[in-house]
Amino acid sequence: MLKLNIGCGGRQLDEYINIDLNEPNTIHHDCKQQLPFEENDITEIFSSHFIEHLWVKEFKKVLQDWKRVLKPKGRLVIWTPDYDVVHAKRNNIDWFQYRMFSKAIYPGSEHHAIYNFEMLKKVLEDFGFVNVVRLDIGEFPWEGVHEDMNMGVCCFKI
Ligand SMILES: C[S@@+](CC[C@H](N)C(=O)[O-])C[C@H]1O[C@@H](n2cnc3c(N)ncnc32)[C@H](O)[C@@H]1O
Repeated sequence: MLKLNIGCGGRQLDEYINIDLNEPNTIHHDCKQQLPFEENDITEIFSSHFIEHLWVKEFKKVLQDWKRVLKPKGRLVIWTPDYDVVHAKRNNIDWFQYRMFSKAIYPGSEHHAIYNFEMLKKVLEDFGFVNVVRLDIGEFPWEGVHEDMNMGVCCFKI
């Protein structure tokens, strides 16, 4: 039962294959490129605060690959900033600019896209993922992390 934690950074998960471009003690892989797994190999893909680092076009290419490696009924869990929350706090300009655009503090740290639930649901459904639901914040594995704007979304490959 293979499970992936993509763009894990320092937040590695037990019982998952932890993958990151930069982080020590993980599988080093540029996850914009095809994952080194066979078709229908993976039970779950978990990815927290990674997709906002991709341009929309790159995210769509990545989603196609995630769909390739997931088993039928495989689960995809994405956590990312919620555009609606970030936009609502736009008067807090430093915070807003950081969350919307981020800064290049390490390779790949810039933000290139931000979604609200409806936007992300549409992209996932366009790629054939089903049962797209919003997760409760309590389901995020790390208490107190990203909590001021965190959005969790879960869906399945048919
Ligand atoms: C904001 S951190 C998120 C870390 C952790 N998952 C979390 O939720 O806090 C984004 C991570 O994505 C990684 N990353 C960015 N672009 C990547 C790429 N093309 N391939 C693999 N990892 C990438 C970065 O190295 C970084 O560790």
